[in-house]
This record gives sequence, structure tokens and C-alpha cells, in this order.
Amino acid sequence: MKIIGTGSALPTLSVTNNQLATFLDTSDEWITERTGIKARRLLSTESLYDIAETAAKKAIEASGLSPEQIDFLICSNVANRHVTPGISCIMQNRIGIKCAGLDINVACAGFVNAMMLADSMIKAGNARYIMILCAEEPSKYCNWHERDCSILFADGAGAVIVGPGDSFKDVQLTMISNRDVLYYERPLESTPFEKEHEHGQPLVMKGRELFRQAVSESSKDIMKLLSRQGLTPSDIDYYLIHQANKRIVDGIRSLLKEPEEKFPTNIEYYGNTSSASIPILLDEMLAQGRIHDGDKIVMSAFGAGFVSAACLLEW
Ligand code: UT7
Repeated sequence: MKIIGTGSALPTLSVTNNQLATFLDTSDEWITERTGIKARRLLSTESLYDIAETAAKKAIEASGLSPEQIDFLICSNVANRHVTPGISCIMQNRIGIKCAGLDINVACAGFVNAMMLADSMIKAGNARYIMILCAEEPSKYCNWHERDCSILFADGAGAVIVGPGDSFKDVQLTMISNRDVLYYERPLESTPFEKEHEHGQPLVMKGRELFRQAVSESSKDIMKLLSRQGLTPSDIDYYLIHQANKRIVDGIRSLLKEPEEKFPTNIEYYGNTSSASIPILLDEMLAQGRIHDGDKIVMSAFGAGFVSAACLLEW
């Protein structure tokens, strides 16, 4: 499998740390120092489906395919206003494709998991060209009266088209059941047969624990991947790490003992866009001409679950 087209789209509204400090007990200095984030894009006038459509259409255009040639759609999304139908069904019509599709929710690790699924489907002969569309609006499930999650999360969409090829080399997936580290509970409708009604909770996060687990498990994923492939960290040209916190990227980098230029970031301007962060970063790097034929690229992500995932591509 190889990536033959990418696209991304972000909300137009950019909100700075100073703007958040007008209604939250925080500061530009604290957020910048602890996370690397200076601003984030948040949905305001447009919907998640609008930006997902733009990202998807850009990816199709970049691939040089016509929409009819896409024969499967994998959408990665944690939550959106529709519990059902799936976001893949909603997006099929808007993108103008006719193929079947499915939704996956592997939190912020959704993109790497979708790559694994797409590779398996192409190898099995079930599809030739697949769109992976990661569309996330975590700003809509943060508690905006608290400073813990709302300073971190942001909205965005990233898409790739994959097709037959030999670029996708290997993948490492990890799942450690630990709901308490990061969760969002939506109340379901009450029935007359329950004694207690369900209550929802906006996103709850144990930031420090998640931080430690992210650095440790992601480094392990990457080392397992490299050792299986007979590679060392210095053989890799770029590490595209989930943009959750610049300090997490730095933590993984210092364990791998590799230079900063191999770890591109855009969290400074976009915040944490969950599973969309890696495809958005990849799309930007390609647009900047930073990725060349033969480059070895590791993608590594982690998130609620706890889950983590890493994959290796040779461009
Ligand atoms: O997509 C994956 C999902 N999420 C993540 O990957 C997040 C992982 N975790 C993190 O990024 C970091 O743990 C946070 C950014 C969430 C927090 O940073 P931290 O360095 O772990 O800070 P902390 O929670 O240990 O808090 C340090 C201090 C505390 O004050 P005291 O007790 O030292 O006086 C907090 O009350 O900073 C305070 N604090 C804040 N101050 C200003 C916590 N949040 C804020 C804030 N603004 N937003």
C-alpha cells in the first residue's frame, strides 16, 4: 500500500492562548511552556462535516483519481453530533463517492489503525483505492469552564487516499484498557425500566498519567517496529508524532536520541486535533516539499483507551 494523495482542512477561527485567558484561569506563558500551543482552530461558523468534505475533496484531487475510483471509505472519528448513522455514511454523499465504508474510533490513534485496516483490505484484494478520512471536533466535548482539556484540544480534518504499492512496511498496535486516563461519557436516553438515570460528563483527563504513558508506550511501539525491520532510530528521516503536546514529542525524541528536525510539529498553531493531527501534518509537509522519494517515515499516535499505534512507511 502507498499514499497517493492527501488533503486537510481546518476551521477558520484561530483562538490564541491570551483569548482563553480572558475566561479561564490560565495564561499564554503556562500553555506555551507546558504544551507548545500558541493558538488552536475551533469550529464556529462551519461544521465538522464541512471541513471533512474539504479535506476529502482535496485528497481526491491530489490523488489524480476520480471519485468513482475510490472503492472504500474509512472514517476515523471519536464523536460528532450523530451517534448514528456513522460519519462515513454522512460523508459519502457530501464527498460524492458511491462506495461502502465504515467508522472507526481508536481515539487519537485512529489514523494509524485505519492505515493498518486499509493495507489489509488492499492485500486481501477487497479494495484497490481507499480513502482514510479523520475528522475530529474535540472542542465540542471539552468542559469550557475548566482549563485542563479546553486549552489542549482543537478541531480539524485530514484525509489520505491509499492504493496498491510497497510503501507501508509495518505497524505496531497497543491497547491497555484504562478508561480513567481519558474519557467522555454521553448520557443515553432514559428508559422507564431503569432505577437511575445516566449522566454525561465532558472530557475527563488525568493529564500527567497520560503524558507518562504516551511517552513510554509510543517509544516502545517505535522501537518494536524498528527492531522488526532491522532499523535503528537514525535510519528514520521523519517521525510524525500525534500532535498532543510538544513536550510529549520532545520526550519521545529524547528517548530515541534523534535531532529535533526529524520531529516536525504544527501543534503551535493547531492544538491537538485528535486522530486528524498526523494526516494534517503529513499534508502540510508534502505541500512544503519536505518529503522525498525513499524517505523513511514513522507515524506514532496515542490516546484514550489507553491506545497507541505506530507504523513505518518508505515514501
Ligand atoms: O491526545 C492525547 C490526549 N491528551 C494528552 O496527550 C495530554 C497529556 N498530558 C499533558 O499534555 C499535560 O499533562 C497537561 C498539559 C494536560 C498538563 O501539564 P502538566 O505539566 O502535566 O501540568 P500538571 O497537571 O502537573 O499541573 C502543574 C501545575 C498545577 O499547579 P500546582 O499544583 O503546581 O500549583 C496545575 O494546577 O499547573 C497548574 N495548571 C495550570 N495552570 C495554568 C494545570 N493546568 C493549567 C492551565 N493553566 N491550563
